[in-house]
Amino acid sequence: MSILVVGGAGYIGSHAAHILRRRGYDVIIYDNLSTGYKELAEGFELIVGDIADASKLGAALARSDAVMHFAAHAYVGESVENPRKYFKNNVTSALALLDAVVESRVRKFIFSSTCAVYGNPVKVPITESNPRQPVNPYGATKLAFENALEAYSQAYALRYVSFRYFNAAGADDSATIGEHHEPETHLIPLILQTIQGRRSALEIFGDDYPTADGTCIRDYIHVNDLAEAHVLGLEYLSRGHSIAMNLGTGRGYSVREVISAVEKVTGQSVPIRIGPRRPGDPPELVAEPARAEELLRWKARRSLEEIISTAWSWQQKSQTAIREV
Ligand code: UFG
Repeated sequence: MSILVVGGAGYIGSHAAHILRRRGYDVIIYDNLSTGYKELAEGFELIVGDIADASKLGAALARSDAVMHFAAHAYVGESVENPRKYFKNNVTSALALLDAVVESRVRKFIFSSTCAVYGNPVKVPITESNPRQPVNPYGATKLAFENALEAYSQAYALRYVSFRYFNAAGADDSATIGEHHEPETHLIPLILQTIQGRRSALEIFGDDYPTADGTCIRDYIHVNDLAEAHVLGLEYLSRGHSIAMNLGTGRGYSVREVISAVEKVTGQSVPIRIGPRRPGDPPELVAEPARAEELLRWKARRSLEEIISTAWSWQQKSQTAIREV
């Protein structure tokens, strides 16, 4: 079975490509390398193309049995400042991808959605029935695509799984692939860069939230746990269903707890500075992962310590592993 991994030269997509190959699937990576890196696709067939390029996609789809779509812009802050960029890529171009799929014989589609579709949750842990009311353009674009998938699946017999990721983190044990964003905005890589001396201090965005230690709580999930769910998602699609589900651990950690865990794993202390709240950050986002556990027989297996230790191994290599462009 051949899987077209769209956005497979990015962080989560490259991990999915590796896990798929380890499970015996054939993988074709399709990526325009706008935010992806060819180094992350090394050893795979890589088609450099845009998701709006129907003819290039059509040729790739003709050789594929299923599509995984990871190709999206994913900075909440940037989406507020430049919503056009987000609606153009994450909606307009993504719909061109979906149209190309419908025109092909491929009927299995896995979509990288996000907990940002929930906005400020009415209840934590968050179940899939929480109202979808995004509070930023990034979440709105992901919700728009979820809605399109639902309609397309009814009309065109397309089967899909929308996976709503919580906070993806960590790296493959091989330390050959990992998280590399320009600019980096995510908590764990920023803490590690601070330890490396590349930043003077880690700024905590607010310590006056209504949480036990005043800092925000998030559900950090190892990227390979996410990737494994995608493989199980393919099997689920073979059973003929479509669904949206959360991918999280069900356990939240505050920013301060993450910093302490990094200090424990690396044996180094992290200089911190307390800054103002970052606009749009809800105090607590934790998944209720029961649906994925039941329907996929999946469970996030890797701990916060494993997330940090694999991210740390990768972080120490990534500056040379990825040539800056
Ligand atoms: N944080 C800091 N200092 C930093 C960076 C982050 O205190 O320098 C805090 C944030 O305020 C937040 C937590 O660390 O409380 C995690 O922040 P990240 O930026 O790593 O992740 P987010 O929770 O903001 O973002 C994630 C996904 C997005 C998704 C969003 C939904 O990466 O794709 O959750 O809210 F949209």
